Amino acid sequence: MEKTAKIAHPGKMVALINQKGGVGKTTSTVNLAASLALADRKILVLDFDPQGNASSALGIDRQAASSGPTIYNALIGEVKLSETVRPTEVDGLFVSPANADLTGAEIELVTAFAREMKLKAAIAEVKDQYDYILIDCPPSLGLLTVNALTAADSYLVPLQCEYFALEGLSQLINTIGLIRQSTNPNLKEEGILLTMFDGKTNLANQVVDEVRKHFGEQVYQSVIPRNVRLSECSSFGKPIMLYDVNSKGCSAYLSLANEFLARNQQLEMPATIPTMAGEAPGLATKVTPPPFNPATAAEI
Ligand SMILES: Nc1ncnc2c1ncn2[C@@H]1O[C@H](COP(=O)(O)OP(=O)(O)O)[C@@H](O)[C@H]1O
Ligand SMILES: [Mg+2]
Repeated sequence: MEKTAKIAHPGKMVALINQKGGVGKTTSTVNLAASLALADRKILVLDFDPQGNASSALGIDRQAASSGPTIYNALIGEVKLSETVRPTEVDGLFVSPANADLTGAEIELVTAFAREMKLKAAIAEVKDQYDYILIDCPPSLGLLTVNALTAADSYLVPLQCEYFALEGLSQLINTIGLIRQSTNPNLKEEGILLTMFDGKTNLANQVVDEVRKHFGEQVYQSVIPRNVRLSECSSFGKPIMLYDVNSKGCSAYLSLANEFLARNQQLEMPATIPTMAGEAPGLATKVTPPPFNPATAAEI
């Protein structure tokens, strides 16, 4: 049966961003998306990396992606974004795939009018048809990432639990600041997700402590462990839930999805439910992270 978006607000768009490669952006996009779809939400993944890893992890390999329009064609206005959307093996989970063509967009759009707004314009047509739209960003802060942050309602930062985890974060925070001053003043923080945690090393524990100390409640309680099943499932074109439901990686992403939905609970409440005067603040209010303060964050 066709899954329809449940909630009254237009789909919330979350960009998974970190200009470092190999920190778990794609793995987190795909597996959070699948977990949310299994929680009965209607989800669209936008593959915004020319490497097309999110597409292939969702079963659309390079050849399949190239057999129809991709997100590149929508970005340059050749087709509507809805024409690029493909179903996946998970009910309620859809992907707008990417392939190497997307590299061209960085160059072709440079001279275009309102070049930062292309994704925002393209997504408007379908935004309210999904509960959440997750964008898998490329490992750079170039024009594609700027488009993602301009279109997004919030951004989520996957951080690998390793020594240089915080390196480059001030540059990312600067970029966020510039976007807020120019193309997207309403860009919110969705939080920080610790990935590839290896509990056997002191270092990983130190990184977790350090990040929590500096970023407090912005950091998700759910931590994604280093788990070989997570690295395997992508090459089989499956999210972890369809590959090894008993793995630690699977439990971690399901727990992340629960936490994500709890944080977004307020947003999901239909606007028609009246709030009682003097009512205690709901869960979402309690767990909403404090503002991502560039001034403090940049000191790290
Ligand atoms: N929690 C994890 N445990 C083990 N391997 C992981 C985990 N998360 C990601 N990987 C692997 O690490 C590599 C980089 O992850 P990926 O999600 O592609 O990062 P990014 O999108 O930031 O470049 C991939 O080969 C992926 O399969
Ligand atoms: Mg990636």
